[in-house]
Amino acid sequence: MSWIKYLHVLALVLWFGSAAADIILELVLRKTSSREGQLTLIRLHAIIDKTLETPGFLVTLITGFFLLMKYPNPSGPLYVKIGCGLAAAAANLFCVKKVLDRDRWAKSIAKDAWPLQLERGKDLTRDVYLSMLGVPFAFVALYIAVVYF
Ligand code: HEM
Repeated sequence: MSWIKYLHVLALVLWFGSAAADIILELVLRKTSSREGQLTLIRLHAIIDKTLETPGFLVTLITGFFLLMKYPNPSGPLYVKIGCGLAAAAANLFCVKKVLDRDRWAKSIAKDAWPLQLERGKDLTRDVYLSMLGVPFAFVALYIAVVYF
């Protein structure tokens, strides 16, 4: 395996691993009723996105484009893999934006307000769930990569 492909797969592990942790955090957040608990989980999700998930998906994309240079005429499955990879990355970018918006907003709410009981908090959290629509695309890209390459 070339070092660039190694880096692609390593970044992928970082991306998928942190995304899996985020899904668990969101499930726990849904069940958390205390104000402090909600604020802590909202903060933690934002920290994971900034420090692990964003570097993970950016390095996956950058190394993916370098790997593409080897293929002047990409095959059909490679096109589908790239399309699915880009769709997953776009959904991820949307998710990170909403998570950071929610974190910034949660810091500004009144001392006696529960983030997930306010309309803005519910809307931003719904958008975070919506971004999970990117997950099937990520798995199709992974399936094609494992089966065809
Ligand atoms: C969710 C997103 C992605 C996943 C799950 C994924 C997964 C993988 C995996 C597992 C490999 C190693 C395959 C092997 O040799 O066994 C690989 C290779 C590769 N990936 Fe990705 N990738 C993703 C995104 C991208 C993107 C966005 C691009 C292009 C911009 C890309 C381009 C490539 C190329 C060209 C190879 C090398 C194929 C070869 O020469 O063997 N990947 N990918």
